[in-house]
Amino acid sequence: MKQVYLDHAATTPLDKRVLDAMKPYFSEKFGNASSLHSFGTDAMEAIEKARESIAKVINAKSEEIVFTSGGTESDNLALQEIGYSNRGKGNHIITTKIEHHAVENTCKFLEKDGFEVTWLDVDKEGFVDLNELEKSITGKTILVSVMHANNEIGTIEPVAEIGKICKSKGVYFHTDTVQSLGKEKIDVEAMNIDLLSASAHKFYGPKGIGFLYVRKGTKINPLMQGGIHEKGLRPGTENVPGIVGMEKALNLAEKEMEKENIKERKLAKKIVEGVLKIENSWINGPPVGKKRLSNNINLGFDFVEGESMVLMLSDKGIAASTGSACSTKSLKPSHVLRAIGLQLVKCHGSLRVSLGKGTSAKDINYFLQELKPIVKRLREISPLGGK
Ligand SMILES: Cc1ncc(COP(=O)(O)O)c(C=O)c1O
Repeated sequence: MKQVYLDHAATTPLDKRVLDAMKPYFSEKFGNASSLHSFGTDAMEAIEKARESIAKVINAKSEEIVFTSGGTESDNLALQEIGYSNRGKGNHIITTKIEHHAVENTCKFLEKDGFEVTWLDVDKEGFVDLNELEKSITGKTILVSVMHANNEIGTIEPVAEIGKICKSKGVYFHTDTVQSLGKEKIDVEAMNIDLLSASAHKFYGPKGIGFLYVRKGTKINPLMQGGIHEKGLRPGTENVPGIVGMEKALNLAEKEMEKENIKERKLAKKIVEGVLKIENSWINGPPVGKKRLSNNINLGFDFVEGESMVLMLSDKGIAASTGSACSTKSLKPSHVLRAIGLQLVKCHGSLRVSLGKGTSAKDINYFLQELKPIVKRLREISPLGGK
Protein backbone atom coordinates (compact mmCIF):
# COMPACT_ATOMS: atom_id res chain seq x y z
CA MET A 1 0.00 0.00 0.00
CA LYS A 2 1.10 3.56 -0.68
CA GLN A 3 2.47 5.21 2.48
CA VAL A 4 2.13 8.96 2.92
CA TYR A 5 3.52 10.48 6.11
CA LEU A 6 1.81 13.77 6.95
CA ASP A 7 2.62 13.96 10.66
CA HIS A 8 5.97 15.77 10.77
CA ALA A 9 4.81 17.91 13.70
CA ALA A 10 4.72 14.71 15.79
CA THR A 11 8.15 13.59 14.66
CA THR A 12 10.36 13.51 11.56
CA PRO A 13 12.32 10.65 10.05
CA LEU A 14 16.05 10.65 10.79
CA ASP A 15 17.94 12.15 7.85
CA LYS A 16 20.34 9.58 6.36
CA ARG A 17 23.17 12.14 6.51
CA VAL A 18 22.49 12.57 10.22
CA LEU A 19 22.60 8.83 10.80
CA ASP A 20 25.97 8.67 9.01
CA ALA A 21 27.37 11.41 11.24
CA MET A 22 26.13 9.61 14.37
CA LYS A 23 27.28 6.07 13.52
CA PRO A 24 30.93 6.31 14.68
CA TYR A 25 29.75 7.49 18.10
CA PHE A 26 27.81 4.25 18.60
CA SER A 27 30.82 2.11 17.72
CA GLU A 28 34.50 3.00 17.68
CA LYS A 29 34.05 6.45 19.30
CA PHE A 30 32.01 5.17 22.22
CA GLY A 31 33.87 6.93 25.05
CA ASN A 32 32.36 8.61 28.10
CA ALA A 33 33.08 12.32 27.76
CA SER A 34 34.04 12.51 31.44
CA SER A 35 36.93 10.02 31.03
CA LEU A 36 40.48 11.34 30.97
CA HIS A 37 41.81 8.93 28.31
CA SER A 38 41.61 9.52 24.57
CA PHE A 39 38.22 7.75 24.21
CA GLY A 40 36.81 10.30 26.64
CA THR A 41 38.58 13.33 25.19
CA ASP A 42 37.42 12.37 21.67
CA ALA A 43 33.83 12.27 22.91
CA MET A 44 34.21 15.57 24.75
CA GLU A 45 35.71 17.17 21.67
CA ALA A 46 32.72 16.06 19.56
CA ILE A 47 30.31 17.47 22.16
CA GLU A 48 32.05 20.82 22.34
CA LYS A 49 32.26 21.12 18.56
CA ALA A 50 28.53 20.42 18.32
CA ARG A 51 27.78 22.89 21.12
CA GLU A 52 29.67 25.65 19.34
CA SER A 53 27.98 24.96 16.03
CA ILE A 54 24.47 24.81 17.54
CA ALA A 55 25.10 28.05 19.46
CA LYS A 56 26.09 29.78 16.22
CA VAL A 57 22.77 28.88 14.57
CA ILE A 58 20.79 30.83 17.20
CA ASN A 59 23.47 33.51 17.72
CA ALA A 60 24.27 32.30 21.24
CA LYS A 61 27.55 31.62 23.02
CA SER A 62 28.70 28.05 23.21
CA GLU A 63 28.55 27.94 27.03
CA GLU A 64 24.87 28.98 26.89
CA ILE A 65 23.78 25.65 25.36
CA VAL A 66 22.74 22.90 27.83
CA PHE A 67 22.08 19.47 26.33
CA THR A 68 18.94 17.73 27.58
CA SER A 69 16.81 14.75 26.58
CA GLY A 70 14.43 16.88 24.48
CA GLY A 71 11.71 19.49 24.52
CA THR A 72 9.84 18.27 27.58
CA GLU A 73 12.95 18.27 29.76
CA SER A 74 14.08 21.66 28.47
CA ASP A 75 10.69 23.20 29.23
CA ASN A 76 10.66 21.67 32.72
CA LEU A 77 14.19 22.81 33.49
CA ALA A 78 13.44 26.34 32.30
CA LEU A 79 10.11 26.81 34.04
CA GLN A 80 10.65 24.93 37.28
CA GLU A 81 14.13 26.15 37.87
CA ILE A 82 13.60 29.79 36.93
CA GLY A 83 10.62 29.53 39.27
CA TYR A 84 12.37 27.98 42.25
CA SER A 85 15.69 29.82 41.80
CA ASN A 86 14.02 33.24 41.66
CA ARG A 87 11.29 32.79 44.25
CA GLY A 88 12.97 35.46 46.36
CA LYS A 89 12.08 38.03 43.72
CA GLY A 90 8.52 36.86 43.08
CA ASN A 91 6.16 33.99 42.37
CA HIS A 92 4.37 35.15 39.23
CA ILE A 93 4.69 33.44 35.85
CA ILE A 94 2.96 34.48 32.63
CA THR A 95 2.18 32.00 29.86
CA THR A 96 -0.53 31.41 27.26
CA LYS A 97 -3.54 29.13 26.94
CA ILE A 98 -2.08 27.40 23.87
CA GLU A 99 1.25 26.07 25.14
CA HIS A 100 2.33 22.48 24.62
CA HIS A 101 1.56 20.21 27.59
CA ALA A 102 5.25 20.31 28.57
CA VAL A 103 4.83 24.00 29.47
CA GLU A 104 1.13 23.89 30.37
CA ASN A 105 1.42 21.07 32.87
CA THR A 106 4.68 22.38 34.36
CA CYS A 107 2.88 25.69 35.02
CA LYS A 108 -0.04 23.80 36.59
CA PHE A 109 2.45 21.91 38.77
CA LEU A 110 4.01 25.21 39.86
CA GLU A 111 0.57 26.69 40.53
CA LYS A 112 -0.09 23.86 42.98
CA ASP A 113 3.18 24.76 44.69
CA GLY A 114 2.22 28.36 45.37
CA PHE A 115 3.17 30.10 42.14
CA GLU A 116 0.68 32.43 40.53
CA VAL A 117 0.22 31.83 36.81
CA THR A 118 -1.42 34.21 34.35
CA TRP A 119 -2.82 32.30 31.37
CA LEU A 120 -2.99 34.74 28.47
CA ASP A 121 -5.85 34.47 25.98
CA VAL A 122 -5.13 34.32 22.26
CA ASP A 123 -7.20 35.64 19.36
CA LYS A 124 -9.07 33.42 16.89
CA GLU A 125 -5.87 32.76 14.93
CA GLY A 126 -3.87 31.95 18.04
CA PHE A 127 -1.92 35.19 18.50
CA VAL A 128 -1.21 36.65 21.94
CA ASP A 129 -2.08 40.29 22.59
CA LEU A 130 1.12 42.21 23.36
CA ASN A 131 -0.71 44.91 25.35
CA GLU A 132 -2.37 42.25 27.47
CA LEU A 133 0.98 40.59 28.04
CA GLU A 134 2.66 43.84 29.06
CA LYS A 135 -0.21 44.77 31.38
CA SER A 136 0.03 41.38 33.09
CA ILE A 137 3.62 41.95 34.23
CA THR A 138 3.77 42.97 37.90
CA GLY A 139 6.54 43.51 40.43
CA LYS A 140 6.22 39.82 41.33
CA THR A 141 6.65 38.51 37.77
CA ILE A 142 9.79 36.44 37.26
CA LEU A 143 9.14 34.72 33.95
CA VAL A 144 7.17 35.00 30.71
CA SER A 145 6.93 31.79 28.67
CA VAL A 146 5.39 32.02 25.20
CA MET A 147 5.96 29.40 22.54
CA HIS A 148 7.46 30.46 19.22
CA ALA A 149 5.24 28.32 16.97
CA ASN A 150 2.19 26.38 17.99
CA ASN A 151 2.32 22.62 17.44
CA GLU A 152 -1.38 22.26 16.59
CA ILE A 153 -2.34 25.28 14.51
CA GLY A 154 1.08 26.59 13.41
CA THR A 155 0.68 30.18 14.67
CA ILE A 156 4.03 31.97 14.95
CA GLU A 157 3.99 34.27 17.96
CA PRO A 158 5.70 37.69 17.93
CA VAL A 159 8.64 36.55 20.06
CA ALA A 160 10.92 39.49 19.19
CA GLU A 161 8.28 41.95 20.45
CA ILE A 162 7.69 39.82 23.57
CA GLY A 163 11.44 39.67 24.21
CA LYS A 164 11.64 43.46 24.00
CA ILE A 165 8.83 43.90 26.52
CA CYS A 166 10.39 41.37 28.92
CA LYS A 167 13.79 43.02 28.68
CA SER A 168 12.35 46.47 29.39
CA LYS A 169 10.51 45.08 32.44
CA GLY A 170 13.46 43.05 33.72
CA VAL A 171 11.74 39.63 33.60
CA TYR A 172 13.08 36.44 32.07
CA PHE A 173 11.67 35.36 28.71
CA HIS A 174 11.47 31.67 27.81
CA THR A 175 10.26 30.41 24.45
CA ASP A 176 9.57 26.87 23.31
CA THR A 177 10.95 26.60 19.76
CA VAL A 178 10.43 22.84 19.42
CA GLN A 179 8.21 23.31 16.35
CA SER A 180 10.05 26.25 14.80
CA LEU A 181 13.79 25.66 15.12
CA GLY A 182 15.11 24.61 11.73
CA LYS A 183 12.04 26.10 10.04
CA GLU A 184 12.26 29.75 11.10
CA LYS A 185 15.29 31.97 11.74
CA ILE A 186 15.94 32.46 15.43
CA ASP A 187 18.38 34.95 16.93
CA VAL A 188 18.41 35.00 20.73
CA GLU A 189 20.15 38.38 20.81
CA ALA A 190 17.92 40.19 18.34
CA MET A 191 14.82 38.59 19.91
CA ASN A 192 15.93 39.15 23.54
CA ILE A 193 15.33 35.51 24.45
CA ASP A 194 16.73 34.38 27.82
CA LEU A 195 15.81 30.69 27.64
CA LEU A 196 14.87 28.58 24.60
CA SER A 197 13.79 24.93 24.36
CA ALA A 198 14.56 22.72 21.37
CA SER A 199 14.24 19.07 20.37
CA ALA A 200 16.16 17.29 17.59
CA HIS A 201 13.48 14.82 16.48
CA LYS A 202 11.37 17.64 15.04
CA PHE A 203 14.08 18.61 12.53
CA TYR A 204 15.16 15.19 11.18
CA GLY A 205 17.49 14.49 14.11
CA PRO A 206 17.33 11.64 16.64
CA LYS A 207 14.77 11.29 19.42
CA GLY A 208 15.78 11.75 23.06
CA ILE A 209 18.08 14.70 22.56
CA GLY A 210 17.46 18.44 22.76
CA PHE A 211 18.86 21.52 24.38
CA LEU A 212 18.00 24.48 26.52
CA TYR A 213 19.61 27.79 25.70
CA VAL A 214 20.24 29.71 28.94
CA ARG A 215 21.46 33.29 28.63
CA LYS A 216 24.73 33.85 30.52
CA GLY A 217 24.07 35.29 33.97
CA THR A 218 20.58 33.75 34.31
CA LYS A 219 19.81 32.62 37.86
CA ILE A 220 18.94 28.93 37.49
CA ASN A 221 19.70 25.68 39.32
CA PRO A 222 19.64 22.07 38.05
CA LEU A 223 16.39 20.11 37.99
CA MET A 224 18.13 16.85 38.90
CA GLN A 225 20.93 16.03 41.32
CA GLY A 226 24.03 14.23 40.11
CA GLY A 227 27.40 14.99 38.58
CA ILE A 228 28.74 18.26 37.22
CA HIS A 229 27.99 17.63 33.55
CA GLU A 230 26.79 20.57 31.46
CA LYS A 231 28.36 23.05 33.91
CA GLY A 232 26.34 21.50 36.71
CA LEU A 233 22.97 22.32 35.13
CA ARG A 234 22.15 18.91 33.73
CA PRO A 235 23.82 15.91 35.36
CA GLY A 236 24.15 12.58 33.53
CA THR A 237 26.50 11.00 30.99
CA GLU A 238 26.15 12.88 27.74
CA ASN A 239 24.32 11.35 24.78
CA VAL A 240 27.22 11.79 22.36
CA PRO A 241 25.66 10.24 19.21
CA GLY A 242 22.50 12.23 19.90
CA ILE A 243 24.37 15.51 20.34
CA VAL A 244 26.42 14.93 17.16
CA GLY A 245 23.25 14.00 15.27
CA MET A 246 21.36 17.05 16.52
CA GLU A 247 24.14 19.36 15.36
CA LYS A 248 24.21 17.78 11.92
CA ALA A 249 20.42 17.88 11.61
CA LEU A 250 20.18 21.50 12.71
CA ASN A 251 22.79 22.68 10.26
CA LEU A 252 21.15 20.79 7.41
CA ALA A 253 17.76 22.24 8.36
CA GLU A 254 19.19 25.76 8.43
CA LYS A 255 20.80 25.32 5.02
CA GLU A 256 17.68 23.83 3.45
CA MET A 257 15.14 25.99 5.30
CA GLU A 258 14.33 28.49 2.60
CA LYS A 259 13.89 25.92 -0.15
CA GLU A 260 11.81 23.68 2.12
CA ASN A 261 9.56 26.50 3.29
CA ILE A 262 8.80 27.54 -0.28
CA LYS A 263 7.95 23.96 -1.25
CA GLU A 264 5.85 23.30 1.84
CA ARG A 265 3.92 26.57 1.55
CA LYS A 266 2.98 25.63 -2.00
CA LEU A 267 1.80 22.19 -0.93
CA ALA A 268 -0.07 23.64 2.04
CA LYS A 269 -1.91 25.99 -0.33
CA LYS A 270 -2.83 23.02 -2.49
CA ILE A 271 -4.29 21.21 0.52
CA VAL A 272 -6.27 24.24 1.65
CA GLU A 273 -7.69 24.81 -1.84
CA GLY A 274 -8.61 21.14 -2.16
CA VAL A 275 -10.14 20.79 1.29
CA LEU A 276 -12.16 23.99 1.24
CA LYS A 277 -14.08 22.57 -1.71
CA ILE A 278 -15.61 20.15 0.79
CA GLU A 279 -18.72 21.74 2.32
CA ASN A 280 -18.66 22.79 5.97
CA SER A 281 -14.88 22.69 6.25
CA TRP A 282 -12.48 25.38 7.46
CA ILE A 283 -8.88 26.12 8.47
CA ASN A 284 -7.90 26.50 12.13
CA GLY A 285 -5.17 29.04 12.85
CA PRO A 286 -3.87 31.79 10.57
CA PRO A 287 -4.32 31.49 6.80
CA VAL A 288 -1.44 30.10 4.70
CA GLY A 289 1.05 32.89 4.04
CA LYS A 290 0.34 34.73 7.33
CA LYS A 291 2.61 34.24 10.38
CA ARG A 292 2.30 30.46 10.51
CA LEU A 293 4.55 27.44 10.06
CA SER A 294 4.86 26.58 6.39
CA ASN A 295 4.37 22.87 7.02
CA ASN A 296 1.30 22.93 9.27
CA ILE A 297 -2.34 22.88 8.21
CA ASN A 298 -5.08 22.34 10.74
CA LEU A 299 -8.38 21.51 9.09
CA GLY A 300 -11.86 21.44 10.54
CA PHE A 301 -14.94 19.52 9.36
CA ASP A 302 -18.48 19.70 10.68
CA PHE A 303 -20.24 16.39 11.52
CA VAL A 304 -16.99 14.40 11.44
CA GLU A 305 -15.09 12.86 14.30
CA GLY A 306 -11.35 13.56 14.07
CA GLU A 307 -10.11 10.25 15.48
CA SER A 308 -12.24 8.28 13.01
CA MET A 309 -10.83 10.36 10.20
CA VAL A 310 -7.25 9.63 11.36
CA LEU A 311 -7.94 5.89 11.57
CA MET A 312 -9.64 5.73 8.17
CA LEU A 313 -6.79 7.69 6.59
CA SER A 314 -4.36 5.31 8.26
CA ASP A 315 -6.18 2.39 6.57
CA LYS A 316 -5.27 4.09 3.29
CA GLY A 317 -1.60 4.42 4.32
CA ILE A 318 -1.87 8.11 5.24
CA ALA A 319 -0.48 9.27 8.58
CA ALA A 320 -2.07 12.45 9.96
CA SER A 321 -3.18 13.53 13.41
CA THR A 322 -5.94 15.25 15.32
CA GLY A 323 -3.68 17.44 17.42
CA SER A 324 -0.40 17.20 19.27
CA ALA A 325 1.34 13.82 19.48
CA CYS A 326 0.64 13.66 23.19
CA SER A 327 -3.05 14.49 23.12
CA THR A 328 -4.20 12.28 20.29
CA LYS A 329 -4.76 9.37 22.63
CA SER A 330 -6.94 11.38 24.98
CA LEU A 331 -10.39 12.15 23.74
CA LYS A 332 -10.38 15.54 25.43
CA PRO A 333 -10.97 18.45 23.06
CA SER A 334 -7.78 20.29 22.21
CA HIS A 335 -7.08 23.14 24.64
CA VAL A 336 -5.57 25.05 21.71
CA LEU A 337 -8.73 24.84 19.60
CA ARG A 338 -10.80 25.79 22.63
CA ALA A 339 -8.51 28.79 23.26
CA ILE A 340 -9.05 30.13 19.72
CA GLY A 341 -12.76 30.08 20.44
CA LEU A 342 -13.84 27.00 18.52
CA GLN A 343 -17.11 25.49 19.80
CA LEU A 344 -16.66 22.19 21.64
CA VAL A 345 -18.48 20.20 18.96
CA LYS A 346 -16.28 21.69 16.22
CA CYS A 347 -13.05 20.85 18.10
CA HIS A 348 -13.77 17.14 17.61
CA GLY A 349 -13.70 17.45 13.84
CA SER A 350 -10.12 18.65 13.46
CA LEU A 351 -7.31 17.13 11.45
CA ARG A 352 -3.68 18.25 11.62
CA VAL A 353 -1.63 17.68 8.51
CA SER A 354 2.07 18.46 8.77
CA LEU A 355 4.36 18.31 5.77
CA GLY A 356 8.05 17.53 5.51
CA LYS A 357 11.10 17.14 3.31
CA GLY A 358 9.79 13.96 1.73
CA THR A 359 6.28 15.26 0.97
CA SER A 360 5.48 15.57 -2.74
CA ALA A 361 2.62 17.01 -4.79
CA LYS A 362 1.66 13.39 -5.59
CA ASP A 363 1.28 12.68 -1.88
CA ILE A 364 -1.05 15.65 -1.51
CA ASN A 365 -3.14 14.52 -4.50
CA TYR A 366 -3.46 11.08 -2.94
CA PHE A 367 -4.40 12.59 0.44
CA LEU A 368 -7.09 14.82 -1.11
CA GLN A 369 -8.43 11.95 -3.19
CA GLU A 370 -8.78 9.70 -0.12
CA LEU A 371 -9.98 12.38 2.29
CA LYS A 372 -13.13 13.38 0.40
CA PRO A 373 -14.89 9.95 0.52
CA ILE A 374 -13.82 9.51 4.15
CA VAL A 375 -15.44 12.79 5.18
CA LYS A 376 -18.54 11.86 3.16
CA ARG A 377 -18.76 8.40 4.79
CA LEU A 378 -18.28 9.73 8.30
CA ARG A 379 -20.97 12.34 7.76
CA GLU A 380 -23.38 9.68 6.57
CA ILE A 381 -22.98 7.76 9.83
CA SER A 382 -22.63 10.80 12.11
CA PRO A 383 -25.20 11.07 14.91
CA LEU A 384 -24.63 14.82 14.75
CA GLY A 385 -26.19 15.21 11.36
CA GLY A 386 -24.54 16.09 8.07
CA LYS A 387 -25.27 14.28 4.86
C1 LIG B 1 5.84 22.77 21.07
C2 LIG B 1 6.37 21.51 21.69
N1 LIG B 1 7.02 21.58 22.86
C3 LIG B 1 7.53 20.49 23.46
C4 LIG B 1 7.40 19.25 22.89
C5 LIG B 1 7.98 18.06 23.57
O1 LIG B 1 9.20 17.72 22.97
P1 LIG B 1 9.84 16.27 23.17
O2 LIG B 1 9.02 15.33 22.35
O3 LIG B 1 11.23 16.41 22.65
O4 LIG B 1 9.81 15.99 24.63
C6 LIG B 1 6.71 19.12 21.68
C7 LIG B 1 6.48 17.79 21.07
O5 LIG B 1 5.55 17.56 20.33
C8 LIG B 1 6.19 20.28 21.05
O6 LIG B 1 5.53 20.22 19.89
